[in-house]
Amino acid sequence: MARHLITSALPYINGIKHLGNMVGSMLPADVYARYLRQRGHEVLYICATDEHGTPAELAAKAAGLPVAEFCTRQHEAQMAVYDGFGIRFDHFGRTSSAQNVEITQHFARRLKENGFIEERTTRQVYSPADGRFLPDRYIVGTCPHCGYQAARGDQCENCTRVLDPTDLLDARSAVSGSTDLEVRETKHLFLLQSKLESEVAAFVEEHGKEWPTLASSIARKWLTEGLHDRAITRDLEWGVPVPADVWPDLAAEGKVFYVWFDAPIGYIGATKEWADAAGEGEERDWRSWWYEAEDVRYTEFMAKDNVPFHTVMFPATQLGTREPWKNVDYVKAFNWLTYYGGKFSTSQNRGIFADAALELLPADYWRYFLMANAPESDDSSFSWELFASVVNKDLADTLGNFVNRVLSFSRKRFGEQVPAGHAAGEAEQRLGEEIARLLAEYEEHLEALQFRKAAFALRALWSAGNSYLEEKAPWLEIKTDPEGAALTLRTAMNLIRLYAVVSEPFVPFSARTLRGVFDFEDTATWVTPEEARALDAVPAGTGFTVPPVLFAKLTEEDLDGYRQRFGDSGA
Ligand code: 2FM
Ligand code: ZN
Repeated sequence: MARHLITSALPYINGIKHLGNMVGSMLPADVYARYLRQRGHEVLYICATDEHGTPAELAAKAAGLPVAEFCTRQHEAQMAVYDGFGIRFDHFGRTSSAQNVEITQHFARRLKENGFIEERTTRQVYSPADGRFLPDRYIVGTCPHCGYQAARGDQCENCTRVLDPTDLLDARSAVSGSTDLEVRETKHLFLLQSKLESEVAAFVEEHGKEWPTLASSIARKWLTEGLHDRAITRDLEWGVPVPADVWPDLAAEGKVFYVWFDAPIGYIGATKEWADAAGEGEERDWRSWWYEAEDVRYTEFMAKDNVPFHTVMFPATQLGTREPWKNVDYVKAFNWLTYYGGKFSTSQNRGIFADAALELLPADYWRYFLMANAPESDDSSFSWELFASVVNKDLADTLGNFVNRVLSFSRKRFGEQVPAGHAAGEAEQRLGEEIARLLAEYEEHLEALQFRKAAFALRALWSAGNSYLEEKAPWLEIKTDPEGAALTLRTAMNLIRLYAVVSEPFVPFSARTLRGVFDFEDTATWVTPEEARALDAVPAGTGFTVPPVLFAKLTEEDLDGYRQRFGDSGA
């Protein structure tokens, strides 16, 4: 059996992520990781905060904090939210860790030795008042195209045109506001990606065949446009320092690596953090997951804007080391989740942020809705109306109501133990066949990382229970054939237990509650086809309790409140 390495795109440090970020990275990665663990695979799910770069420095400045402290706080805050969502990382690290610094510098050394990094002189804006070179984003001014007064040196946020800092009218430093700017020569390191182009193309050709079209088409498009050499250092205080033993001049000037150079290496850095955090007597070998790791299957989760970096640029970096680093096997890419058809926007505070979502409703409501509507083949749109209908129909009516109806009725008629009754009959046999078939479908979609289809199959499993209950109608059976009613309820309770096991990837909190219903030691992590057919794992006589309502229905009043608070348009 292969070992599974799973990563989700590293969330940038500058703020709490919105639901659109969650559904395109961590949430599906967690569903997949949970599923594989339950199936008995060895899984390592790694993520981290992506902490370097200009936005972190600027956000720290805006918060009035030293950048290191800002990042520590934000890292903790993000981790708490992911924990609330039930995201079970094996490790959630930081790209600013000592481990990532060490490995990033190692990569740079190897790339230099192999002739893939070169020092070049560039012309860059220098601010005497700040005593430093200014990265493009640190220069603001008036956009020459649309007149927007707060355009940044790399791009105008208003008209989206890409700019060069020297295009700006009335350019000034975003640090001090000084307009006394000059252009000076300085040196930077360049990654000679052009030299690696054919190798990366061969890599994409070979592995891309298996990827979803969204990922492979973006990778091919980037390759068609050609891999250009690019600057991989910046003049920032916060970043992985250029190693002084190799580039003493640049190190003396305080150059650090560009955030997109050290961020993907952060997957490896965070794996080393995980290993270094091993407890007494625990063996954790980070290298075996990344280096000469032929038995590892590596799956990455990300939104489409991240695809070029992960399919083209990071592989180029890895290949250029001439060391056997593990390359990605499967890239699960996502389109955008929109908010009423418009963009979720961190900067404009539109849409729902992960922390606010959890204040409103428990994680499982969001997890299930988001995965059942994941933007897999196309963008998908969040609206409160759709959210409420999915929660009410699938979670409250189909799953929650089934559980409560069965358990409450059985307790009322037969007490607090699973009733015995007749042996399974023809209806139970049909049900078992149907459950085994749907379970196989569910597994197949999860293996193929088709999350919408998997959620659909899971809902069909829940529905099958309802249909069986309607067909057998134990509330009528009880009058004429109490033993028959007992059989129906016993079988339905076995369905509840099956749901407890197989629903965990999507709704882990509710699954745990369901597991707690029966007073019996249940060590199973999954359900075999035979068990699905037999539906008899929970024997008659097993004690049970009726849990509180699993999912509350959302009312029109709730919706009015949400729409008022979060808006109900994408504009
Ligand atoms: O797009 C982003 O938000 C980046 N922080 C993703 C980085 S993924 C990896 F390469 F680090
Ligand atoms: Zn503009």
